[in-house]
Amino acid sequence: MRIVVTSSEAVPFAKTGGLADVATGLSRALAAADHEVTLVVPYYPRHVPVDLPCPEIGTTVTVRVGQKVVEAGLRRAELPDSRLRVILVDQPMYFDRPGLYTDQGHDYQDNCERFVFFSRAVLEAVARLDLRPDVIHVNDWQTSLLPLLLEVDYRHQPGLQSTGTVLTIHNLAFQGRFWKWDMLLTGLDWKHFNWRQLEFWGDINLLKSGIVTADLITTVSPTYAREICTTEFGCGLETALGHRGDDLVGILNGVDTDVWNPARDPRLARQYDISNVADGKAVCKTDLQRELGLPARHDAPLFGMISRMTEQKGFDLIAATAERHLQHDLQMVFLGTGQPHYENLVRDLANRYPDKVAAFVGFDEGLAHRIEAGADCYFMPSRFEPCGLNQMYSLIYGTVPVVNAVGGLADSVVDATPAAIADGSGNGFVLAEYSPEALITQVDRAVDLYRDSNTWQQIVRNGMGRDWSWNRSAARYVDVYCRAHGRHAVPHQDG
Ligand code: ADP
Ligand code: GLC
Repeated sequence: MRIVVTSSEAVPFAKTGGLADVATGLSRALAAADHEVTLVVPYYPRHVPVDLPCPEIGTTVTVRVGQKVVEAGLRRAELPDSRLRVILVDQPMYFDRPGLYTDQGHDYQDNCERFVFFSRAVLEAVARLDLRPDVIHVNDWQTSLLPLLLEVDYRHQPGLQSTGTVLTIHNLAFQGRFWKWDMLLTGLDWKHFNWRQLEFWGDINLLKSGIVTADLITTVSPTYAREICTTEFGCGLETALGHRGDDLVGILNGVDTDVWNPARDPRLARQYDISNVADGKAVCKTDLQRELGLPARHDAPLFGMISRMTEQKGFDLIAATAERHLQHDLQMVFLGTGQPHYENLVRDLANRYPDKVAAFVGFDEGLAHRIEAGADCYFMPSRFEPCGLNQMYSLIYGTVPVVNAVGGLADSVVDATPAAIADGSGNGFVLAEYSPEALITQVDRAVDLYRDSNTWQQIVRNGMGRDWSWNRSAARYVDVYCRAHGRHAVPHQDG
């Protein structure tokens, strides 16, 4: 198939979270399966690695955004060992900034304008480069206006008449909700400002426009697909989602195992696989403890957490229970950025327990890999979690996750009861409910079981033994793309 994937972030060009891993990981997997894939992303000059060439391709696109006529250059890039084509939309006024969406914790005022621009620029680029896609796959609110723009303004263009659209929701909590006068930026007629399309409680809602317009909608785990049709998790869009019935599909994210693979990870002190995981992890743990300035203790379990520091990720539970966990002989490492009171909480713990806690407030890809390899356990007690990648990275690296049973966590982590350990499925510790007591219970259990080395190694192997790569999920996306494309198939003309 000819597939265009578009996203506001993609590794290694720019990343704030899992969306960036998924945009590239899925696109590469599709390209490896012989599809013709183009990934279109903004060009954020301050985020692209210096050693990654992104030459201009000598073509520009022109986009009208409200009263402005904005021109953008197009660049291209290649990724090692991949046939994936990457196109970057270069418009410094919108993308040459310190952050992707925020600066110092505040959203950019013109985020609506920036991503309306980008969504139109993608369609212009698709037409200009004559990509003739069977399907355009958009992701989250930033590109979610594209399906409606395609219907209203681009359907007649050659090569776009039979293009299907697929929207993936990575996080329903972010909807791209802006005041209604931003309608003027979209270039769409006010008739689309109604409760069945763009309007949401008097504002415009870009994600909603994608939910009602895209041919098919996916989200990043089967459990989250069910959850978002309920008032508890639907963030006000549960009715719109419920109306889509079978057009809403949950597909668990995969892992890009070229990037996250302990057997080939150049960032580790020792590479390892399931056959030598105990020895390999022991070396990585000592190395990590040295890097963190913690005592090199093999007997004390080391808990890691790499995360945006927000309520979503269960930091209120961590805050409520950390001191209690520290009554055990264990160590903890936190890497992340986010709400200032959580950043201060982990810094404070590290100051008060220098032999037990290390905290790094910032973004550090290399350290993230070394924590996944060197830690014994991983904290992910999220309040909600569309998919979550770090629990899967943990499972691949032989690090046992402690999770709440929501979204993709429920679809990837199986509680290590004696029966589940024995049948090969038990791979982590699952909270019975979202509460501090439930987290304490699971940490107590983990600390206990860690002393029983044979059982622990079995849990580790259960996690490592399953295929977490994109293989299966990419094939499911292809099915969804075929369905979406099928809705626009031009009838076959007989002589
Ligand atoms: P979300 O996208 O909701 O933040 P995911 O688990 O899907 O959660 O993905 C988060 C991704 O971002 C993972 O690849 C994780 O390792 C990475 N990440 C988050 N915070 C940091 C950080 N401070 N430093 C390095 N990587 C981070
Ligand atoms: C979002 C979700 C996370 C998911 C990621 C990639 O950021 O919060 O659960 O793994 O997108 O799909």
